[in-house]
Amino acid sequence: MKIITTIAEMQEQMLRLKADGTTIGYVPTMGFLHEGHMTLMKKARHENDVVVLSIFVNPLQFGPTEDLDAYPRDFERDHKIAEAHGVDFIFYPSPEEMYPGTASITVSVVERTNVLCGKSRPGHFDGVATVLVKLFNIIQANRAYFGLKDAQQVAVVDGLIKDFNFPIQLIPVETIREEDGLAKSSRNVYLNDEERTQAPELHKSLQLAKAEIEKGERDPKQVIELVNTHINNHCNAEVDYIEIYSYPGLKELETLAGKIIIALAVRFSKARLIDNIILDVEKN
Ligand code: PAJ
Repeated sequence: MKIITTIAEMQEQMLRLKADGTTIGYVPTMGFLHEGHMTLMKKARHENDVVVLSIFVNPLQFGPTEDLDAYPRDFERDHKIAEAHGVDFIFYPSPEEMYPGTASITVSVVERTNVLCGKSRPGHFDGVATVLVKLFNIIQANRAYFGLKDAQQVAVVDGLIKDFNFPIQLIPVETIREEDGLAKSSRNVYLNDEERTQAPELHKSLQLAKAEIEKGERDPKQVIELVNTHINNHCNAEVDYIEIYSYPGLKELETLAGKIIIALAVRFSKARLIDNIILDVEKN
């Protein structure tokens, strides 16, 4: 396994491999790897000749009130995990390497962004899209692997790849969870003991919503109310949003039908957790 820190070397190696017809599977991350990331690596390993993992805590996607410096980092541990999962290259650039000066062009996401996390994190998806345009051009992947835990990110990347004609196949991967249902996240380490026992209720609230829809509920407001009540009754935390949209278009729905997403974000004392469920809803 090779660790590459410069854009020039990474791009050169990838272009050489691509010219030989080697298929490149790419897993973009911000590091502090957990089983969610590992599943993406495993899938990439299975489906491609070469696997590239990038580890870059992207300053552009952090808001002014979000603590970029506090984002957990442990390169030595990540290195071992990547090695054990058959990663061929780790791209590990510094912020200066990725953003050497003031940018003359950045990417602005105009659809699928003014809802869910995009609404409460202005500029976040512009930052994600901008770094991904750079990373896609550096890594030259055939397939890129993204987790459905960040379902809005998957919807934005779907738009980015289609609108900018990247010759990359987007592979969405199911959310990986702890045994009690809590979605794996680098941010879970910020939960205190009491919050850790409450956090699985987020997933449970989405399961309750699914059951209610299966029983015939088609009013999004009723479903949101059910989820909200469950979380407020079981978690000492503040609901940031609970929203329902079509997926991946993220359009509002008066009646539940077709492919939909129920997504939520909840603030515990030191961690803002997100979760979602994507369902195919039959017409009543
Ligand atoms: P990061 O939060 O490190 O996540 C990297 C990838 O791991 C994302 O595609 C995310 O959806 C996936 N992932 C995280 N937790 C998961 C889980 N429990 N199950 C399945 N997949 C999971 O997302 C980012 O980094 C950044 O925004 C990035 C795309 C790298 C751009 O900077």
